[in-house]
Amino acid sequence: MKIGNLNLNNNKYVKKQEGSVEFYLYKNDNDSIPSKSMDVFYNEKMEINRDISILAILTYNKLINRDSLVMVDCMAASGIGPIRLLKASNNFKKVFINDINPIAVKLIKKNLKLNDLEKNTQIISSHKDANLLCIEMIESPDVISIDPFGTPNIYIDSAFKSIKKENGLLCITATDTAVLFGVKPKACIRKYMSKPLHTKYCKEIGARILIYYISRIANVNNLGIIPLLTFYSNHFVRIFALTYKSKAKIFKDLSKSYGYIIHCNNCGYRSSVLNDILTIPQKCPSCLKEEPLSYSGPLWIKELHERYFLEDIIHLNEKFNFKSKNRIAKIIRYALDEIDMPVSYYNIHKLCQQLKLPSIPKIEKLIEAIGKSGYSASRTHFDFISIKTDMGINALKNILKNITN
Ligand SMILES: C[S@@+](CC[C@H](N)C(=O)[O-])C[C@H]1O[C@@H](n2cnc3c(N)ncnc32)[C@H](O)[C@@H]1O
Repeated sequence: MKIGNLNLNNNKYVKKQEGSVEFYLYKNDNDSIPSKSMDVFYNEKMEINRDISILAILTYNKLINRDSLVMVDCMAASGIGPIRLLKASNNFKKVFINDINPIAVKLIKKNLKLNDLEKNTQIISSHKDANLLCIEMIESPDVISIDPFGTPNIYIDSAFKSIKKENGLLCITATDTAVLFGVKPKACIRKYMSKPLHTKYCKEIGARILIYYISRIANVNNLGIIPLLTFYSNHFVRIFALTYKSKAKIFKDLSKSYGYIIHCNNCGYRSSVLNDILTIPQKCPSCLKEEPLSYSGPLWIKELHERYFLEDIIHLNEKFNFKSKNRIAKIIRYALDEIDMPVSYYNIHKLCQQLKLPSIPKIEKLIEAIGKSGYSASRTHFDFISIKTDMGINALKNILKNITN
């Protein structure tokens, strides 16, 4: 971390705007490519992450916990995320805006002042290690946000020790997608205790590994989680999950939530199986090739989102004028569509290429054709040129051949 010579003269800064909020950034940082070596980190491409976080936290506040909230942003950098949130709602009892980098905390204070929030006694800025901050909380926060460089894995245990045990909202980002998506499988096993698989649907596998890890750390803290929204965009995954503490429910969910994805490298067959090694097929049930199947897991095999939560996010998004409003609406619509569908998705462009088809059908036309043949199909928010379906891969290939000829 660079501390350098701090000079708080305004000519060191550049004024920026995100949403309806103005904030300062270091001039040097503004000219550089977003990286750890910035004085204070800011990435404008992550604006959609902050937009969705505002929508998710306000939706949580409306639907699940109507009290005025205690919120902790463990890694706030310039503070733009929590400042935008504070400008969007005044239903906060306390907001902790933290970063381990002291230069970031100076900037947070400057940005609070710029937004007339510096005298607000409900806002506490600090520069602590995120784990220490969580462990030292006197009042259990309703909401904890973790947005580190790379993996969030080492912060999750203290977040569960700190957060409200019933209906707390954990917002966790991972940007180490090469690890979660199976490009670095050994690192994934080490960091997330799960084997990834670098398939054409690895974004979903990675998101399911992250939820699995968060959920298992919840379990060792006598808690369970319900993912409200699982969100992939621009090389990051962010999970919004609700806590619960019923031991009976935790135990019941153990056998239903965790499992494996098996994948046939020969024909592309894939399926999820429960966490019971005796039920895992030894060879592909589709092409019957006498070769061991590939697998990923253990990972989360239940739903990635809660329908009621997404429906409310869609309504709330309409009320804001975010730059990414249309993209958010599309992502959440596709997330809604994928809720009841099986794990994994099919990239239609790649499948058509593999089958050497003369053209690529419109996705809506393909979904309609699958529907007419008695199966379900949907879009997926993970990949706009892919579909999910409960139809087997061979039948899907046949439908593709029929509608492109
Ligand atoms: C990806 S940036 C956060 C970006 C910010 N949430 C935003 O939306 O602009 C990660 C931040 O985590 C901070 N950080 C890294 N390790 C930390 C730790 N152990 N505790 C608290 N903050 C930490 C870094 O200083 C950096 O500002």
